[in-house]
Amino acid sequence: MKISEEERNAVYKTIFSRRDVRSDFTGEEIPENVLKRILTAAHHAPSVGFMQPWDFIVVNDSLTKQKIKRGFDQANLASKAMFSEVKQTQYQQFKLEGILEAPIGICVTCDRERNGPVVLGKTVKAEMDLYSAVCAIQNLWLAARAENLGVGWVSIIEDDILRKALNIPANIEIIAYLCVGYVSQFKDKPELESAGWLPRRAVEKAIHYNKWSEEQGQQ
Ligand SMILES: Cc1cc2nc3c(=O)[nH]c(=O)nc-3n(C[C@H](O)[C@H](O)[C@H](O)COP(=O)(O)O)c2cc1C
Repeated sequence: MKISEEERNAVYKTIFSRRDVRSDFTGEEIPENVLKRILTAAHHAPSVGFMQPWDFIVVNDSLTKQKIKRGFDQANLASKAMFSEVKQTQYQQFKLEGILEAPIGICVTCDRERNGPVVLGKTVKAEMDLYSAVCAIQNLWLAARAENLGVGWVSIIEDDILRKALNIPANIEIIAYLCVGYVSQFKDKPELESAGWLPRRAVEKAIHYNKWSEEQGQQ
């Protein structure tokens, strides 16, 4: 099956207009079939040894969201203190989550023991299962963008908070908590770029030929 030019352009449009969304959720409900589509897209991600180590916990209960939000607030305060004073002033202006505003949260987990102790492709680098779960998140993120749904990744939260709030067993790794919902806008650029926190690195600096090149590998 060949991808047509129009379809190709749609894929790139989706990739380049995807954003991490925190502040522009409208609160509109996500229809069941749309949610199922983005979760199915996530489930069709590549995975080491076809291990499919992920699970998706959909959170739509407001008391549960409140517990998670309190966990974020705590962790965010501690995180802010790690930056220099100048950066702290800027840091506290950022909105780094949309836990209560987004109609649903999706916690993505990784079962590192799924399909037994020896997994094809994971025999040398054991962390390949974690990377596979992250592939599922990227699929979900892009599928969501194609559905005009925003996604915001919340990583400033202790695993214990999510584990307790969502009843996640001790042997299951927590990869991400995602806020998902319709949004009033997708910004043109990452908020951290617009705010001058960090610039986008030129793609040419990230590309090396045949060997690591210091000149190109620099900032
Ligand atoms: C692994 C990962 C964790 C992230 N955690 C957070 C987070 O806790 N809070 C937040 O506001 N954004 C978080 N982000 C979003 C990044 O800040 C964002 O992707 C980056 O600034 C580029 O912006 P864009 O996604 O809109 O292109 C995370 C992104 C990734 C990939």
